[in-house]
Amino acid sequence: MAPYVARSGCAEGDAGRQGCWRRLFVTGAAGFIGSAFVRLVLAEEPDCHVVSFDALSYAGSLDNLRDLDPLRHRFIRGDICDAEAVRAALASGADAVIHFAAESHVDRSIAAADGFVKTNVLGTQVLLDAARQCGVRRFVQISTDEVLGSLADDAPNGFAEDAPYAPNSPYAASKAAAEHLVRAAHRTFGLDTVITRCGNNYGPRQFPEKLIPLVLTNALRDEPIPVYGDGRQIRDWIHVVDHCRAILAVLRHAEPGTTWHIGARNPRRNLEVIEAILRAVGKPTSLIRFVKDRPGHDRRYEIDPSRIESCLGWRPLVSWETGLAETIRWYRDHAAWVERARSGSYRDYYVRQYGTALGTPPPPRIAVATGAARAAVPSR
Ligand code: NAD
Ligand code: TYD
Repeated sequence: MAPYVARSGCAEGDAGRQGCWRRLFVTGAAGFIGSAFVRLVLAEEPDCHVVSFDALSYAGSLDNLRDLDPLRHRFIRGDICDAEAVRAALASGADAVIHFAAESHVDRSIAAADGFVKTNVLGTQVLLDAARQCGVRRFVQISTDEVLGSLADDAPNGFAEDAPYAPNSPYAASKAAAEHLVRAAHRTFGLDTVITRCGNNYGPRQFPEKLIPLVLTNALRDEPIPVYGDGRQIRDWIHVVDHCRAILAVLRHAEPGTTWHIGARNPRRNLEVIEAILRAVGKPTSLIRFVKDRPGHDRRYEIDPSRIESCLGWRPLVSWETGLAETIRWYRDHAAWVERARSGSYRDYYVRQYGTALGTPPPPRIAVATGAARAAVPSR
């Protein structure tokens, strides 16, 4: 068995290895990244068949899996914590499990962590057990750079794969715990597992609670943009399709027991991102509202993707400018999708999170002058 370490060099088999993964079992497939992955696989891998398994939580929607080839794609509604349902769904056979399903929003994990522990930790263990029992040949754990915590302001490089765990939010802690269970399944039972850790994704079909779709959907409706703290936090942005292409490369080529950082070398401060969106949709920076900071807010996420670049030859193909413009176009062109996402329980969440109702216009008095917001944008 290959030693389970988050190696920083290339393993002998990396890139040379070519697994045969025709039947994929994708959890969380009705969510933002899972649905992009299913679409990519069906478009690029003519021999692949996909089973999408998703509980359809507030963040998942069958709208995200519309118009897929019914001969190569099947949807099963189910909860990853339900061992019987998972085993039944896996019984028809799968070469690989690609595990996206999760509670994924930091603010919700701060408000109530129990659902995160259940889905992200227990659910992952249920899937690992079922994968072993059903003879699955590879298990891909979709993880996050957030398990490593906040990078120092003056650190010259992003986190490498062997950086120590330091999760700071309940969400990040639950994802770190899931990684430990994946590691244990590899070490103890010899399950072929790989872990990917990515930075912040953006693109079509992202639920509007996350920064970019929140700014975009609020701005298009002339609603206030809530900015936590000073807005100078740094996130490492990648287009969702580039992330999914990297996952495919890891699925096909990575050695068992390895961990991979996926990033587009695109760190940006939050205010820079927000202002770019406002400019692109022709809305004033006076929509910005600085609000109370997120507790435990990580200042800087940045990962070093050197290993996947050099060992698997992966590179991001979508530039920030093109990706953001396409994303903005998608949200403009899919008003019905946006309205559905912003209705129902999201409205209650919004009031709880921001203390104002969704759809409330900004008060007439401008709280943040355009110049002040501009001055806050860093020069990096
Ligand atoms: P998302 O919230 O958009 O989608 C999560 C999906 O999981 C939804 O379709 C939901 O219905 C489903 N789900 C939730 N609980 C479930 C359960 N108990 N059983 C079955 N399905 C369930 O999340 P996303 O942004 O697409 O993230 C997908 C994965 O990628 C997550 O594991 C997340 O930690 C990871 N990730 C996300 C980002 C990002 O920027 N969004 C970055 C790095 C890693
Ligand atoms: P988010 O999209 O929640 O992703 P994550 O916290 O997992 O990185 O947030 C991205 C950044 O934007 C983060 O620094 C928090 C900030 N943010 C705001 O300033 N206001 C908001 O309303 C939200 C949702 C996020």
